[in-house]
Amino acid sequence: MPATKVCSLSELAPDTAKRVEVDGVPIAVVLDSAGTVHAIGDTCTHGDISLSEGFVEDDTLECWAHGSKFSLTTGKPLTLPAYEPVPVYVVTLDGDDVLIDPSVTVPSGAGR
Ligand code: FES
Repeated sequence: MPATKVCSLSELAPDTAKRVEVDGVPIAVVLDSAGTVHAIGDTCTHGDISLSEGFVEDDTLECWAHGSKFSLTTGKPLTLPAYEPVPVYVVTLDGDDVLIDPSVTVPSGAGR
């Protein structure tokens, strides 16, 4: 499946998350303070909570419900109570367009 435009780079505010859906897949798109765009599964693995309603800190996105912090680079929860990772999607930038293919995920296991 070709990557789909999900938003414009100029729509993203640093250190905030934006929920998008591609083919019914909810994805949290995050522009971190270093200027890198990340995309991870938007549904917390501890409960049916949208992670994009949570808090961005450095390279993590924290679920507002019970505080699990997910790595934006690996999708792994760094704090309990969540213990299953969320998927991490490949982001492609084309000018101001942010493109994501939800069928392509970054292998977990590397990094923290
Ligand atoms: S629902 Fe996200 S940490 Fe509990």
